Amino acid sequence: MKHRFYLLVLALGLFTCSNEHSQIIEITSPKSKINVDFGLDKEGKPFYLVMFNNKTIVDTSYLGFEFKDAPAFEKNFIIKNSTTKSFSGTWQMPWGEQIDVVNNYNELRVELQEKTSPERFLNIVFKVYDDGIGFRYEFPEQARFKGDVLITEEHTEFNLTEDYKTFWIPGDWDIYEHLYSTTKLSEIDAIAYAQHVNLAQTYIPENAVNTPVTLVGDDGIHLSFHEAALIDYSGMTLKVDTTSLSLKSNLVGSENTDYKVKCSLPFNTPWRTIQITDNAPDLITSNLIVNLNEPNKLGDVSWFKPMKYTGVWWEMHLGKSSWDYGMEMVDGKWVDTGKAHGRHGATTENVKNFIDFSAKNNIGGVLVEGWNTGWERWIGFEDREGVFDFVTTYPDYDLDEVVRYGKEKGVDIIMHHETSAATATYEKQQDAAYTLMKKYGMHAVKSGYVGKILPKGEYHHGQYMVNQYNNAAIKAAKYEVAVNAHEPIKATGLRRTYPNIISREGLRGQEFNAWAEDGGNPPEHLPIVAFTRMLAGPIDFTPGIFNIKFDEFKENNQVNTTIAQQLALYVVIYSPIQMAADLVEHYEANPEPLQFIKDVGVDWENTKVLNGEVGDYVTIARKERGTSNWFVGGITNENSITHKLNFDFLDNNETYEAIIYRDGDDAHWNDNPLDLIIEKTELNKNSTLTLKLAEGGGFAISLKKK
Ligand code: NOJ
Ligand code: CA
Repeated sequence: MKHRFYLLVLALGLFTCSNEHSQIIEITSPKSKINVDFGLDKEGKPFYLVMFNNKTIVDTSYLGFEFKDAPAFEKNFIIKNSTTKSFSGTWQMPWGEQIDVVNNYNELRVELQEKTSPERFLNIVFKVYDDGIGFRYEFPEQARFKGDVLITEEHTEFNLTEDYKTFWIPGDWDIYEHLYSTTKLSEIDAIAYAQHVNLAQTYIPENAVNTPVTLVGDDGIHLSFHEAALIDYSGMTLKVDTTSLSLKSNLVGSENTDYKVKCSLPFNTPWRTIQITDNAPDLITSNLIVNLNEPNKLGDVSWFKPMKYTGVWWEMHLGKSSWDYGMEMVDGKWVDTGKAHGRHGATTENVKNFIDFSAKNNIGGVLVEGWNTGWERWIGFEDREGVFDFVTTYPDYDLDEVVRYGKEKGVDIIMHHETSAATATYEKQQDAAYTLMKKYGMHAVKSGYVGKILPKGEYHHGQYMVNQYNNAAIKAAKYEVAVNAHEPIKATGLRRTYPNIISREGLRGQEFNAWAEDGGNPPEHLPIVAFTRMLAGPIDFTPGIFNIKFDEFKENNQVNTTIAQQLALYVVIYSPIQMAADLVEHYEANPEPLQFIKDVGVDWENTKVLNGEVGDYVTIARKERGTSNWFVGGITNENSITHKLNFDFLDNNETYEAIIYRDGDDAHWNDNPLDLIIEKTELNKNSTLTLKLAEGGGFAISLKKK
């Protein structure tokens, strides 16, 4: 028996040792790149350390909890039992960046017990991969907690060993739509962003960051801290100690309770994750976050098809049309009192125009915002409950006719549910709203949560809202509806378990370019996003703006990229729904670049990150599912860069017809964003191509087998 135990220990690279002060258990990743040491110090306090290629990157970091009405989980623990296992398997994404996902880790489960009597119990589980680690706390059934467990704070530490270059947004409890800052860890000052303009709601109580937060070391180590499987718990921000260079969990709270999380036993926390690589591209191809989630619980989800979409959307953000119609509330009901202003965007005629355009251009869907009553009171009011109605159309929008026309042309209508964060109204109407969608065969909804949360005192990222978002998606699945939430909770890989969680916002999106008073998203924004927000999951960024300056609508705003970069984003940013966001007339005036949007895939067999540096540039190649087409997209920040690309990812002995969309010689995101060169050529596995990206520029390539 003893003999077998030693064999197992060796296979897992696991060692235990103890001395009079502490007890350490060590576990290593399958290829021994990453080691985790778990131990109890002489006071019985749990701690862990992480090594990458034998370098300590997380030094002794303590773990624990504080509770309302119960002593903290902090010290006096003993290890009751510990077990290990190895897992290696492959699962498939129904749609995604790739089909096959390898899931290969070594696991350590430690069962802790308090020395005090009667004792309490806490399990800590580590999964150690070659591209990072995840660990979570498991609260087993036990008698000493009376009723629910009320967590006032989780104390998970990440004590770092270097003053990393850090790409961060503030630990806002109410929004993720901040620009990224790039500073040393020791220079992080989140409070400086507390009074930011153009945010519908914001609350930054501490010097903390939101996750994913990405750190780059002098020797090339790349770390990204995040969480996986955020279910029935609060979102985690990370409080920064700029002196000791440590990050510490700071859960999002509520003004309505004197605890941050309420759970009933038994329960597990989300996984606390660190992606660890020695280069930037490997962060993007890491599947740690999805791997730490449970397998698909929905079964067959083939009712949703990845697609490109257009929509009645950008025109509202530009001010060309409006969401509202001009109704008035009379005796608690919306009435057309003859005051329609004539600028309403979601008219039957306008939507049909989008359907016609989409049908002609290989675009599968049309999003219609502003179709339902309530938009006259959607923001700027405290009393937003009972305002929106998710089944009643404005008088100039004929839903029957629009859906019928769409079907005739092979184009789906994408539903829109702006809740204006009035959660009671939305919850009450969800069944009716999804039933309406089912009746019309509509399989995707974009939801929105703009404004301060109602009930007052809750925040977008607290436990109350985590449950709102998750429950809405789980309910939607019953009606075969896929959800793309805006103003969402962050992505934590739940798309593996509930694939109908197709995409989300959760960052400063394209819309800021239309109206932000600070001039919109700077050219470095997306080269940072690709290595931060995108590690969490799909992004509904809504690329494809061709009329970059749109002076006829807004003189002081523009998109701060070249048109070539707008094309590149279809490949660089992953989402199974990808908007062609500009107005029909702007596309029709530019048929040559439109060809790329027409051709580009939205669902991928495989993804290769060809190059990248966080905040500087990134180039991604993706192979379309179901065809043998490849697409390549590259973007850069405010600096021009020249890449020599090779195409060794292409199939052997095949020639591909390539269309290259690249910045012209004089292109520049501000001075000359429309300078675009389109060239046709042939490429194969042995080809190389030298491409210059302009300041704020990019390139896109489509490759079809001859
Ligand atoms: C904010 C969303 O991000 C945006 O896309 C949408 O148009 C507005 N809310 C209105 O719902
Ligand atoms: Ca938004």
